[in-house]
Amino acid sequence: MSKKQLDTVLVNAGRSKKYTQGSVNSVIQRASSLVFETVEAKKQATRNRAKGELFYGRRGTLTHFSLQEAMCELEGGAGCALFPCGAAAIANTILAFVEQGDHVLMTNSAYEPSQDFCTKILAKLGVTTDWFDPLIGAGIADLIQPNTKVVFLESPGSVTMEVHDVPAIVSAVRHVAPDAIIMIDNTWAAGVLFKALEFDIDISIQAATKYLIGHSDAMIGTAVSNARCWDQLRENAYLMGQMVDADTAYMTSRGLRTLGVRLRQHHESSLKIAEWLAEHPQVERVNHPALPGSKGHEYWKRDFTGSSGLFSFVLKKRLNDSELTAYLDNFTLFSMAYSWGGFESLILPTQPEQLADIRPNGKPDFSGTLIRLHIGLENVDDLLVDLSAGFERIV
Ligand SMILES: Cc1ncc(COP(=O)(O)O)c(C=O)c1O
Repeated sequence: MSKKQLDTVLVNAGRSKKYTQGSVNSVIQRASSLVFETVEAKKQATRNRAKGELFYGRRGTLTHFSLQEAMCELEGGAGCALFPCGAAAIANTILAFVEQGDHVLMTNSAYEPSQDFCTKILAKLGVTTDWFDPLIGAGIADLIQPNTKVVFLESPGSVTMEVHDVPAIVSAVRHVAPDAIIMIDNTWAAGVLFKALEFDIDISIQAATKYLIGHSDAMIGTAVSNARCWDQLRENAYLMGQMVDADTAYMTSRGLRTLGVRLRQHHESSLKIAEWLAEHPQVERVNHPALPGSKGHEYWKRDFTGSSGLFSFVLKKRLNDSELTAYLDNFTLFSMAYSWGGFESLILPTQPEQLADIRPNGKPDFSGTLIRLHIGLENVDDLLVDLSAGFERIV
C-alpha cells in the first residue's frame, strides 16, 4: 500500500480495534489497578510490562498505548514517553541521559524554563551547560567537549523564532561526538511540520499542551524517541514516576484528528498577518519562520512542511509602561496569556532588556518592544482590524 499522507495518518493513527473496541475513538481506561485472571497472565504481563502490555496504571492503559502508538507513527519513533506537561518532558528527557560530570549544549533561544532546568537543577547535580547561538550551524563542533552528552535544540527559538540549520548541526555533532544524544523541543512544529527523527535527531519533545491538545484546556508532554535511546528514556521516565492521566491522553488523541486542518489555518492566517506587519510603518521587523528575511527562513523552507501560528515582531519604538497598558489592555480579540497553540489568539510583550536576561551569551540586536502573537482560528480580517486599532493607540 502507498504511504499515507499526513492528514490520513492523523485521522487514523492509534485507532486499531484493540483500542477502540467498537467505537470511533479509543476507550478511556482509567486505572491504577489492572487485574490478572491467572498466575500465568500476571507472569506474562510482568515480562512484557515495558512493551505495551497492561500491567499497572503508571505503565499506561489502553488509552495511553493508543496515543503512544499514534505519536510513534506520526513522528517515526520507536517509542513515546508521556509526561504531565511539556516542562516535565524536557527535564526528564535530559535527565535520562546525563550524570555527574557531563556537559549539555543548549541553544540560547530555548524556552526559559528549559534553560532554568539546566542552570538550577542540572548544575546542582554536577552537570554543566553551555549555550549556542541558534544560527551556529556546523560551528557547533567547536563547542563540543569530551564530556558533552546532550545537545538540545529548539527550532524555531522561543520568542525570537530563529530556525536552526539542523542538518549542519546534526552532522557536526555526529562527527565530533557520536555518542551525544541530540534532542529538540519540537512544539512549534507540533511534531509533524518538522520530522525531527528523519533528520537524525534522537528525541523529539513536545509541549503537547499546545497544538496537540489545541483547545487550551489540558497539559501534557510527549517525547518520541528513536530505537537507540528508547529503552533508557522509557525506564528513566518510569522511575521518575512520569505519566499522564487517561482523560488527558484521550484528549490528546482527539486533538490529533483535527491537527492537520488547524495547522493549515494557523499557517495561512499567521503568515497573512506577518506579511501585513512587515509593511507596517511602526514595525521594525517580523520574526516569522515562513516570511523571507526572518532568521533561518531558508532552513524553514528547506526542512519544514508548514508553519504554525506563533511568531513575533519588533516595534520601532520601545513602549513605556503607560503605552504598553494602552496597547495591551484594549484588544478585543487578542488576550494576554503565557501559552499558545489553542484556537484563540494571544499577545505578549517582551522588552529588549527582558530578552537579554533569557539569552545567555547573546544580546538582542534591537531596541524596540517585541510583541509575540499566537494567531488562532478567528477570521483573519477581524484580527487585522483589532491589530490596526492597537497601532493607533501607540502612534
Ligand atoms: C517552546 C515550549 N516548550 C515547552 C513548554 C512547556 O510546556 P508546558 O507548559 O506544557 O509545561 C512551553 C510552554 O509554553 C513552550 O512554549
